[in-house]
Amino acid sequence: MISAQTVPTKPFSLKLAEELLANYGSPLYVYHSERLRKTIAHITQSIPYPCTKFHFASVTNGNLALLKIFLVSGWGLHANTPGDIYLGLTADFSPKQIVYSGSNLNRAEMEQVLKWGTATLNLDSISQLDLCCQVYQYIKPQLSRLRLGLRLNLPQLTGESRIGVRPEEFPAALNIVQAAGLKLNGLHFYRGTGTNATKSFTQVIEQLLAISKLLPDWEYLDFGGGFGYPYHADGVAFDWKDFGRELTKHLNALDRKIELIIEPGRAAIAGCGTLLAKVVSVKWQSGKQILGVDTTVANLSVPSVHGGYRKIVTWADSKRELYSTDVCGNTTYSRDYLGRNCQLPALQTGDIIAILDVGAYGYAMSSHFLHRPRPPEVLLEGDTHRLIRQREDYRILLNNQLFEQRG
Ligand SMILES: Cc1ncc(COP(=O)(O)O)c(C=O)c1O
Repeated sequence: MISAQTVPTKPFSLKLAEELLANYGSPLYVYHSERLRKTIAHITQSIPYPCTKFHFASVTNGNLALLKIFLVSGWGLHANTPGDIYLGLTADFSPKQIVYSGSNLNRAEMEQVLKWGTATLNLDSISQLDLCCQVYQYIKPQLSRLRLGLRLNLPQLTGESRIGVRPEEFPAALNIVQAAGLKLNGLHFYRGTGTNATKSFTQVIEQLLAISKLLPDWEYLDFGGGFGYPYHADGVAFDWKDFGRELTKHLNALDRKIELIIEPGRAAIAGCGTLLAKVVSVKWQSGKQILGVDTTVANLSVPSVHGGYRKIVTWADSKRELYSTDVCGNTTYSRDYLGRNCQLPALQTGDIIAILDVGAYGYAMSSHFLHRPRPPEVLLEGDTHRLIRQREDYRILLNNQLFEQRG
């Protein structure tokens, strides 16, 4: 047992949390549109370089209502998969606003990506580049301009990664695109997700620019995503202003004007999402509080299945004593912990908990593992709230199954 020293941040008032759960049920994903808009503005304003385009990485969150907020804020979309492109087009992004930087498409998928008119493709291997150029030959009558880039693989800069092409492969890549009547227009850099150290990005700028110049028709640099988010209140936060200043300084010093593409995922959307749940069981084991809540890691797989930390708060009086607490999901799966060793006051069944910063890789990574239908999603806008994805019911578990019904 320790005493409360800090007042935990609440995502919104208890009254609103109760109203939301009364309206939409528990558990519930809630997104705060104002917070999202503020983050988008902060990131956008941090990079003064005039030819900068921001593309939201929808791998982190594919809800159409949220994608629209990026669209009206002037951002494009970054697609990891054809599914991302499909969602982006449905949210009204034009194919020109979509940058694909994924991996390992088969021929049918490559055809689909090009048929959709996706304007910029950053390819991850010589084979993918070759496939793209082959498909381009018979799809080209349906296409407007296609820009091609290479994803860079250079362990000193990108870390050890399976993704990307090494500079020594550039000549082979150039031969392939030239034979297809295309050019290599861009270089794509990805540092790896959740990087909070700003230096990891700024200290590689010069080398990246030098490598980009190996491409004779170089016209854009895609600086990727991977920008971290400070899930721990006292953790290191990625410094957008510092990053933007450094990048702008180097790009302005170039002898040509190139386009800069930035594709943040987590950094843009993590902070606006909260997962609300209710306590359904309380027990005490050797002084530790064991809370059972009505959600599961299948609704939020990141922390306990993939590692990581998400702060869990309650609305209990901040002066109450805190106890080491495990917050357990509503299955017996051995990793069904939403949080371990959290510092929470003694709670009762019916109390509400809020799992913070779940806007990125939250709903997007939820699944039907453990056979629980997924929660709904709600958007807070000013004083109002609206449903932006319905709660699933048990019928979802039968989707696409072929079976004979009795009777
Ligand atoms: C090429 C690329 N860009 C951007 C992202 C988004 O990453 P993050 O959420 O770490 O910014 C990803 C994630 O997989 C990615 O592969």
